[in-house]
Amino acid sequence: MTFKILVVDDEKNIRMGLGKSLELEGYEVYLAENGNEAMKEMLKTSIDLVVTDLRMPGMSGEELLKKISNAYPTVPVIILTGHGTVETAVDAMRNGAFDFLTKPVNLDRLGLLVKRALSTRKLVAEHQALQKEVERLEKKKKQSMIGRSGALNRVLGLVDQVAQTKVSVLITGESGVGKEVVADAIHNASNRKDQPFIKVHCAALTESLLESELFGHEKGAFTGASTQRKGRFELADGGTIFLDEIGEINPSVQIKILRVLQEKTFERVGGEKSITVDTRIIAATNRDLMAEVEKGNFREDLYYRLNVVNINVPPLRERKDDIPLLASSFLNQFSEENEKPIEGIDPKASSLLYNYSWPGNIRELRNCMESAVVLSKKPIIGPDDLPPAVRSSEEEGVIRIELGSTMAEAEKQIIRQTLKGVNNNKSRAAEILGIGRKTLHRKIHDYGLEEEFLTRG
Ligand SMILES: Nc1ncnc2c1ncn2[C@@H]1O[C@H](COP(=O)(O)OP(=O)(O)OP(=O)(O)O)[C@@H](O)[C@H]1O
Ligand SMILES: [Mg+2]
Repeated sequence: MTFKILVVDDEKNIRMGLGKSLELEGYEVYLAENGNEAMKEMLKTSIDLVVTDLRMPGMSGEELLKKISNAYPTVPVIILTGHGTVETAVDAMRNGAFDFLTKPVNLDRLGLLVKRALSTRKLVAEHQALQKEVERLEKKKKQSMIGRSGALNRVLGLVDQVAQTKVSVLITGESGVGKEVVADAIHNASNRKDQPFIKVHCAALTESLLESELFGHEKGAFTGASTQRKGRFELADGGTIFLDEIGEINPSVQIKILRVLQEKTFERVGGEKSITVDTRIIAATNRDLMAEVEKGNFREDLYYRLNVVNINVPPLRERKDDIPLLASSFLNQFSEENEKPIEGIDPKASSLLYNYSWPGNIRELRNCMESAVVLSKKPIIGPDDLPPAVRSSEEEGVIRIELGSTMAEAEKQIIRQTLKGVNNNKSRAAEILGIGRKTLHRKIHDYGLEEEFLTRG
């Protein structure tokens, strides 16, 4: 596909000169001598990028920039400015210009900027494609688990495998990774899906309350027990019980749960009659339960009974491929909820989201997107709409490599960031990295970086 570039300048020689040079680089060039003509051309042709002079009679370059970034927020605009007007250029950057060049225009530099801006535009287009995919996924199944990483697919595979069985499942993973979502998914994919799904937040209840919550109580079992009450295990009969934060329960309740697992029976608090239930147990914890067993805080026999199948949900930083999809999905959700049309996330913000380590995992990403939607003043989320922690995830001149990365991932990041840092100058990058150009080209190929760093130059 040939990119279409619109060059706007009131001076004919400059307009033609820039046009020629861009044509020689293989772009399809359109010319306009003022802002009005430029806007007409934008309507007629699906322009991919605009290069415009700042000072023009009639509509100024600034006004044109504003019009374009409102009407076509994904089209990058490169500003040309005479000497001494760098300040205006900086203002223009603030108003959304992709970059600026001072006149007389250095054609090599223009070529580079155009290339960079267009690869950025490709990212935005990719994002829009992602959003379509998200919409499709969301339509397919409301409340489905969003993601496409290998790690998430493994989780989904396990969910499928265990759903139809009655085995106990222990879901582990850091806070906010989606353990509860996995529990929902198991129940919903099981043949118990039309039966009750009862959740118990074990950490929120005191020892005696938890016991009567789980197993119920007879009338007069303790002060205040004025009527008989069924417990959650009974309520979940035929269905599934989800014991969230199982690591927090104390030994006396542990032993009772063990008995339910082994014999499927229990007594209500203050009662003698044994009650038998057919309840499927799913438990979750963000603790290292084995370590708690070793410390003597958690019964080993219960641990093994609960942990017939373990589903570990990896932290978001270990499945970064899910970030763009999740971010788009939350964006759609909150944009709808707040009745605020947001079209997407600009490339800089996308890259910040991607590079951040998300200690609070998906919950943190969700909150971040919610506040971004609420705070954003533009239809596209930019870096300024993100919380400070996320914003500082990409420091100038620093290459970040997440703990837990493989050598190959680390190498890919180093090559990627170095190429970015030297504007895709391959010889310079090879020199910095201390490898030969051929090796660099091979690695660019191996790591699938060609798209990002078009192989000329
Ligand atoms: N794959 C996913 N797709 C879409 N939303 C998700 C996904 N995973 C998690 N979420 C959302 O992220 C938030 C946190 O998920 P959840 O409550 O299941 O985490 P958790 O692991 O149980 O956390 P905690 O240990 O703090 O209880 C929820 O709002 C949930 O809807
Ligand atoms: Mg939870």
